[in-house]
Amino acid sequence: MTAEYQVHGDVAVITLNNPPVNGLGLDTRQGIVDGLARAEDDAAVKAVVITGAGKAFSGGADIKEFGTPKSLQDPNLHSVIRTVEHFGKPVVAAIHSVCMGGGLELALGCHYRVVAPGCSVALPEVKLGLLPGAGGTQRLPRVIGVEPALNMIATGEAVPSEMLASIPGQKLFDQLATSAQALAQEALAFARSVADVRPLPLVRHLPCKHPQGEAYFQFARNMVKGMAKHFPAPGKCVDAVEAATTSRDFEDGLMKERELFLNLMFTPESRSLRHLFFAERAASKIPDVPSDTPKREIRKVGVIGAGTMGGGISMNFLNAGIPVTILEMKQEALDRGIATIRKNYEAQVKKGKLKADKYEARMALLSTSLAYDDLKDCDLIIEAVFEDMGVKEQVFSRLDEVAKPGAILASNTSTLDVNQIASFTKRPQDVVGMHFFSPANVMKLLEVVRGEKTAKDVLATVMALAKKIKKTAVVSGVCDGFIGNRMIERYSQQAGFLLDEGATPEQVDRAIEKFGFPMGPFRMIDMAGNDIGWAIRKRRYVEQPDIKYSKTADLLCEMGRFGQKTSAGWYDYEAGKRDAKPSPVVLKMIEDYRQQQGITPRKISDDEIVQRLVYSLVNEGAKILEEGIASKSGDIDMVYLTGYGFPIWRGGPMHYAGEVGLFNVVQAMKRFARNPHDDAKAWAPSKLILDLAAAGKTFA
Ligand SMILES: NC(=O)c1ccc[n+]([C@@H]2O[C@H](COP(=O)([O-])OP(=O)(O)OC[C@H]3O[C@@H](n4cnc5c(N)ncnc54)[C@H](O)[C@@H]3O)[C@@H](O)[C@H]2O)c1
Repeated sequence: MTAEYQVHGDVAVITLNNPPVNGLGLDTRQGIVDGLARAEDDAAVKAVVITGAGKAFSGGADIKEFGTPKSLQDPNLHSVIRTVEHFGKPVVAAIHSVCMGGGLELALGCHYRVVAPGCSVALPEVKLGLLPGAGGTQRLPRVIGVEPALNMIATGEAVPSEMLASIPGQKLFDQLATSAQALAQEALAFARSVADVRPLPLVRHLPCKHPQGEAYFQFARNMVKGMAKHFPAPGKCVDAVEAATTSRDFEDGLMKERELFLNLMFTPESRSLRHLFFAERAASKIPDVPSDTPKREIRKVGVIGAGTMGGGISMNFLNAGIPVTILEMKQEALDRGIATIRKNYEAQVKKGKLKADKYEARMALLSTSLAYDDLKDCDLIIEAVFEDMGVKEQVFSRLDEVAKPGAILASNTSTLDVNQIASFTKRPQDVVGMHFFSPANVMKLLEVVRGEKTAKDVLATVMALAKKIKKTAVVSGVCDGFIGNRMIERYSQQAGFLLDEGATPEQVDRAIEKFGFPMGPFRMIDMAGNDIGWAIRKRRYVEQPDIKYSKTADLLCEMGRFGQKTSAGWYDYEAGKRDAKPSPVVLKMIEDYRQQQGITPRKISDDEIVQRLVYSLVNEGAKILEEGIASKSGDIDMVYLTGYGFPIWRGGPMHYAGEVGLFNVVQAMKRFARNPHDDAKAWAPSKLILDLAAAGKTFA
């Protein structure tokens, strides 16, 4: 049973017991109602305490039930709260550790609340694009005041119970327990002390007003509009709390809350946020690697190469308190790398984001070396040397000689074959790709590249380690570019064709930035450096001669316009500045190229730009799924949301395609394939997308 019933003398205790956080699933809700019925029937019971076992009072809705019919099945949370409110004997919530969402709404329905110190209290529904739907927006303002309640509801942030208890006149907590250990006993004593009080106090009977009324809510509305412009939920939170102050009666306010909640439930933004919530949790689970797979212990990390990536990668481990040894070929390279790490930390100290003593503690975990022997006690060694198979071979053969048995050998390669890299060792089972994104100390995404022979415990270890260094890890199979870069190839290819056909870099960037990407393809590549893609394309022209590209990107590089670092790329830049200004030279180069290709430029709509860029991601993503490179569409969405700036409120390319309707996406792809200036082969729809579209399904 997920809610236990016990009688202690004249007080019944209902203990929620649904690990990990006592989610209010159907069984638990039924358990509360059943417990109350037993307490009602037992004349010896004078009061009831509701509390939570283990690590929480309650974290709210049971996420396993989310979106299933069970979540709405009676007794739903509304009816549980109503049962508590109408109960003939006092019901006391004994709150501790975590009291969030539906858990807090349940507590607010109780007649009294006793809280243990250090409890984290929140109504976090807004983070899923929703608002509290079981009376939270109506009851919380009545006990802590309108403004503090609206702040909590519109941000979803957790607030410590001590802070809430210090609000003058607050009625959220009737008593503060002396300690978490004492909560159970003190709640029992409190329940006995109020056993005879009648009528029983109800939060719904408390007044709810704001002295500035309308003016305050207008101000609040403007505030949230500025902060959350793509998300409707915070604004609706304002409406709901306002309803608590203006409704004819409490029931009216509840109705208004219900209506706003249901409206939000059906917004694409909320669907995207809920998708993200689940995709993030699912990404850490690998279908054939059970969660109880034993993990190797990672006490010390080696990093080879102190360049752009090696330094950032090292910082992740230092931040997590794991010692790192960086190895380079020359002392100068080491010095440069260490200086960059210091500079990054010092910038954080200057901004007040890192304490000076913490900075020193992190640096103390870092050692440097020019000799491979110094890596022999490392449990994980990550290679971040030049992107060249010959150099990778040298490094991995050497690692095979010195690394201790069982050490994990990882490569940060962006494009090379991890199976081939593994074959340079006699222990391919210990080799894995750990593809960090630049800047590696900042970017959340980590693609974990699973080689043919990578051992399951290596994967399990790396996924757990990713969590420890606060990365979102997604598993990818081996292919050129893995999930993220393989897809961005198609996107860049389309960006090039759009120029050929009549768009300017500025128009393309503006259209996709309006869609929600922080940066369009041309501004992005100017920042990363056009020369990197140039080198990759040169290789591809030889290896895959049938891929079609606009040649404008090559012409740009031939002019030495590599991007911000040369103050000239697709745009012009003032030295040391990042503002992109349209470049007459580039526009002329594009025009000349069109003429030479015999292309008459046409006006291209922003809609077409967005569709071609985004659907190119979708089709390649579908192929990646079909080939088993990604095991679920949510993984692809996580890659794009955390590594490529895909707008959060659109939920990732695969989720977005489902929102548009796969039938519509396929129709558009067929249309684009007929364009003689495009690459019909690239638009050939994957079988997966055709099958799903025909069945009226989505990738999920
Ligand atoms: N820069 C990026 O945005 C990015 C992103 C993801 C992955 N990567 C990958 O990370 C790897 C490193 O890229 P980077 O941008 O940091 O390169 P980089 O040129 O900035 O740094 C490479 C470093 O490796 C050192 N090095 C080369 N050969 C070595 C050897 N045999 N032993 C020890 N050190 C050696 C060099 O001295 C240099 O300091 C590449 O495989 C690259 O594809 C790069």
